[in-house]
Amino acid sequence: FIVRCRMQQNSNPVSKSGDIVKELEEHCATPVSKLKQIADAMTVEMHAGLASEGGSKLKMLITYVDNLPTRDEQGVYYALDLGGTNFRVLRVQLAGKSGIEYKEFAEVSIPPQLMVGTPEALFDYIAAELNKFISSESEKFRHPSGRQRELGFTFSFPVLQLSIDSGTLIRWTKGFSIQDMVGRDVVAELTKAMDRQGVDMRVSALVNDTVGTLAGGKYDNKDVAVAVILGTGSNAAYVERAQAIPKWHGPHPKSGEMVINMEWGNFKSSHLPLTEYDNTLDAESLNPGEQIFEKMISGMYLGELLRRVLYRMANEVALFGDTVPPKLKTHFILRTPEMSAMHHDTSPDLNVVGDKLKDILEISNTSLSTRKTVVEICNILATRGARLAAAGILGILKKTGRDSFRDGELPNTVIAMDGGLYEHYSEYRNCLENTLNELVGEKLAKHVKLILSNDGSGIGAALLAACHSQYI
Ligand code: GLC
Repeated sequence: FIVRCRMQQNSNPVSKSGDIVKELEEHCATPVSKLKQIADAMTVEMHAGLASEGGSKLKMLITYVDNLPTRDEQGVYYALDLGGTNFRVLRVQLAGKSGIEYKEFAEVSIPPQLMVGTPEALFDYIAAELNKFISSESEKFRHPSGRQRELGFTFSFPVLQLSIDSGTLIRWTKGFSIQDMVGRDVVAELTKAMDRQGVDMRVSALVNDTVGTLAGGKYDNKDVAVAVILGTGSNAAYVERAQAIPKWHGPHPKSGEMVINMEWGNFKSSHLPLTEYDNTLDAESLNPGEQIFEKMISGMYLGELLRRVLYRMANEVALFGDTVPPKLKTHFILRTPEMSAMHHDTSPDLNVVGDKLKDILEISNTSLSTRKTVVEICNILATRGARLAAAGILGILKKTGRDSFRDGELPNTVIAMDGGLYEHYSEYRNCLENTLNELVGEKLAKHVKLILSNDGSGIGAALLAACHSQYI
C-alpha cells in the first residue's frame, strides 16, 4: 500500500502553481458535514472538561464569576487588559442605571523582549504605565478621597483561578514565554509590582478577556450568553448551569450559574482539516502540540500560514521568479492585517497586493496572475478559519441547548464578539456569520445574533471589579 501511494505521488507530481492551490483547497475543505462533526466533537470535549480537571484538552476553567453586571454598579473603577501585543489601561465612571458616564483609556505596546523576559520586568513595566495613567485622572472622575482605587485585571491566558481575585498561570500562549511565571499567582505578581512602583490599588477581579467581554456584553444586552474573542488568539466563554459542572465542589452559586472560560484555542480533533503548513507551523512554534485550533483560526497565525504556502510555491513552482525572495523565509513576516488588506483588494490590477508584496517581502514586478494566486490563498485560509470558528460556536449552542426549542420557543442567544481579527477582517467576519447561519438553519438563525462588543473585555473587567469591590 505504501509503495502504491509513493508511486502515485511520483507519477503525479504537484508541479504547477494551480496544483498546489488546488491541493490546499482540498486539504482545507470544510463542508457542512465536517463542521457539524467538529461542533459535536467540541460538545463532547466540553462535557469531558467540565467533568474533571484535566479531563480534556479543553480546560473549561471555572472563573468564579457567578453573577454578571446588573447596572447597579456605581463609582470609578480601573481595568488593565493584557493579552496581545498591546495592553490597555482604562477607567470608567459608572452611574448605575444610566450606565457608563465617562471612560478614558490608554494603549501601550509591549516591547517584544518583555514577552520572553522575566515576570518582574513585564509586571514592573505594566505597573509603571498604570501609574502614569492614574496620575492623569481628571476631575470629572469622582473618586472619593481616602478610598483605595480598584482594578479589574484582564489577563488573557489560561489561569487556574483560586478565587475571583487570584489564580495561577497554567501556561503561556500567543508568543509570550516567561517560564518563571508558570504556576505563579498572577494577581500577587501584579500587586508586588504595583507596590514596587508606588501604585496604591487593589486587584478586585482577575478575568480572562472572554469573561470580560461576556460581562461587558451582558451590561448592554441581557441576551448575551456567550463571548468569543477572535484576535491575536481565540477563545470563548459562556454561562453554564452550575449543576452541569461536576468538577465544581465549591458552594452552589445563588444564581445557579457559573461562567466558564473554555480555552477553546487548545481544542483538537481528528476532524480538523490540518495541512502540512499547520503541522510545520505548530512544530516550529513556541508551544508545539498546543493551541491547535487557535493556530488554524486566529490572527497571530493566519498571515504566517499564508507565508508558508507562498514559501513553498516560491520554491517549488517559482511563483515569484527564479530566486526565492529571501524575506519570505522570515517567520511571521506576513501579519494578518496585511493578509486582510491583500484579501480585500478590489482594484482591477490588485495594486494593494502588489504594494504589500513589494513593501514587506521586497518582491517587485509581480504579474497579475501571481497576485490573483495570492488572493486565492488568503481566501482559502481565511475561509477555513472563519468556518471553523462558526463550528466552535455551534458546539457551544448545542452544549447549552440553545440550538433547540425551550418551552415551545427558541431561546434568543446573543454572542458578544471582540478581537481585531473579527473587527477588521470583514471577509472573515462575513464568512463566519454566513457559516453560522448555514449551520443553525433558517429558523434558529433568527434567534442567534453576533454583536461586536468593542472594548468589551476592558470595560467588563472594570464592571466585575465593581461587582467585587471591597466596599460593598
Ligand atoms: C489565547 C489565550 C486565551 C485568550 C485568547 C484570546 O487563546 O490562551 O486565554 O482568551 O488567546 O485572547
